[in-house]
Amino acid sequence: MTDGSVLRAYAPGDLEACRALWVELTQRHRDIYEDPALGGDDPGRQFDAYLARDDLVGPWVLEVDGAVVGLTGLLVEGTEAEIEPVVVTAAHRSRGLGTRLLEHARAEAVARGMTHLSVRPVGRNAAAMACFHRAGFDILGRVELFTELRPGRGDRWKPGVTLHGLGYRS
Ligand SMILES: CC(C)(COP(=O)(O)OP(=O)(O)OC[C@H]1O[C@@H](n2cnc3c(N)ncnc32)[C@H](O)[C@@H]1OP(=O)(O)O)[C@@H](O)C(=O)NCCC(=O)NCCS
Repeated sequence: MTDGSVLRAYAPGDLEACRALWVELTQRHRDIYEDPALGGDDPGRQFDAYLARDDLVGPWVLEVDGAVVGLTGLLVEGTEAEIEPVVVTAAHRSRGLGTRLLEHARAEAVARGMTHLSVRPVGRNAAAMACFHRAGFDILGRVELFTELRPGRGDRWKPGVTLHGLGYRS
């Protein structure tokens, strides 16, 4: 690309940058759920566990001016692939880089003969859903429904989602 960005396969030298991106992914979830404990004490280490998965294809990183600013990969089962994760460092968001990562993951899935490609945002991640929807992820697959079991914690869930005419909290 002429804009100084390069999308390439992950290399061992990207480890720290990718751990940091995983921390940013966790931070996003901590922010939207207002729960600083989400993701545990050392969320960057979850990237190491991710790298060791035997269903992983990729990952791929996006570099801008020599710095890793984005990460994506595929988890594959049969002919179905899931994009996990997709993350762009905060300072580089809303410039099309997330969409570029999604398009790359899609091309890799097609090249491997996959028939379906999914991405599984948490219900409250409206910003990510907007990005995914615009990138063509407009088919609703399985929906996970929860009820809160902890006494007094029901008010942490925010109303505002409607599906098949029913209201949901997220
Ligand atoms: C989701 C994410 C990868 C999108 O990356 P990005 O580089 O900002 O994506 P793009 O620039 O291609 O697309 C941006 C579009 O996504 C949506 N979007 C992204 N961030 C948004 C925000 N904070 N609020 C509202 N919409 C947002 C909008 O539709 C936006 O379009 P706009 O820039 O014209 O307003 C990035 O926001 C991110 O890393 N978020 C934190 C990690 C995360 O939530 N990952 C998804 C987990 S499933």
